Amino acid sequence: MEGLVKGEDLEKEICMSAFWAVVTGASRNYGAAIAAMFARHFGAKNGVEEVHLTLLSRDEAGLERVKAMCEGGDRVTAACEVANSEDIDRSDHETIRPSMYCRLDLADLEWLPERFRDVLEREQQTHGPFDHMYVFLNSGTLGAIVHIRDQTAAEVQTNMEVNLIAPTVICSVLLQWLQQQQPAATATRPVSSCRIVDISSRAATGAYAGFNLYGLCKTGRAMLTKVITAERQDELRGESHGGARVDVKTLSFAPGRMLTGMTLPVVENGCVNQAFTDECRRLHATNGFLDPHVSTSRLMALLDRDEFESGAFVSVGDKRQEWDDMDCP
Ligand SMILES: NC(=O)c1ccc[n+]([C@@H]2O[C@H](COP(=O)([O-])OP(=O)(O)OC[C@H]3O[C@@H](n4cnc5c(N)ncnc54)[C@H](OP(=O)(O)O)[C@@H]3O)[C@@H](O)[C@H]2O)c1
Repeated sequence: MEGLVKGEDLEKEICMSAFWAVVTGASRNYGAAIAAMFARHFGAKNGVEEVHLTLLSRDEAGLERVKAMCEGGDRVTAACEVANSEDIDRSDHETIRPSMYCRLDLADLEWLPERFRDVLEREQQTHGPFDHMYVFLNSGTLGAIVHIRDQTAAEVQTNMEVNLIAPTVICSVLLQWLQQQQPAATATRPVSSCRIVDISSRAATGAYAGFNLYGLCKTGRAMLTKVITAERQDELRGESHGGARVDVKTLSFAPGRMLTGMTLPVVENGCVNQAFTDECRRLHATNGFLDPHVSTSRLMALLDRDEFESGAFVSVGDKRQEWDDMDCP
């Protein structure tokens, strides 16, 4: 009978879900690699109906380039076909929805909560509903690599705003937004799971000369992921767990040493930390910097398997079952 969905088709229809990634600092380097690898990895995965990317940074031209890369670049497989908004075919189960961009300055704290909430609402309304959400807190700045006695108050403020306060505000707005989602009975299907991924660094766990503000902020962010976990567990134990309806997990991920806007200036000009300068120059001379796409493929394997403990700190150099088992470098 026409219109009836049977057997395998029915199962497919029930299981298909929409994936959504929000990436801060998506205009270049690691953020760009996260976006492209997310599209490639989840776009080719069985059971994924569609993948939507929300790319955030201040650089429109950079975001346009990354958007184009996600939609059809070399690293995106044929399964990750990109549709223009006009030709999204909902019966095509492996459609990547076009990414959108939004100018968002993370140091603009006065507007950040409202603008970030706006982005979430607009995206959900325009492109949703989504079942699985991934928020990558990737933006960052090294700032001045000088000893703490040489940091200016202005530098302390900017570094803290971009590296710690903005990600904290984003998490706060996000968790509030998830809590306030409409119940499933209404027209909009709520997000059922959310993974918050803090792109971290070795400076979160070790003290390195010159990496004072950066290290303080990365340590704070790792603590943020743990505190969110503790609060979710607390809510689940308590009576009023309205906010714990969505399955939330957090992860801090140290991506490895890569040649980007953070390390190239050190290769070229050196910095106050001689050991770090030497290491960067050695890696540069030996082609030893880690390819961001290798790092992000490991991150996607970790997220896909979803076996990490919420609040965990994982480094790309760790030995992990996920990376042994999966088809990734
Ligand atoms: N490279 C490494 O070796 C390395 C090692 C460990 C950890 N990491 C981490 O990896 C992440 C990405 O770094 P990367 O190496 O790709 O650095 P990058 O090339 O300098 O990129 C940094 C990103 O952060 C964004 N950003 C900086 N300030 C911002 C602001 N005020 N508002 C909005 N966005 C801002 C930039 O976007 P716009 O300028 O376009 O706004 C850019 O997309 C960082 O969290 C970094 O700490 C990198």
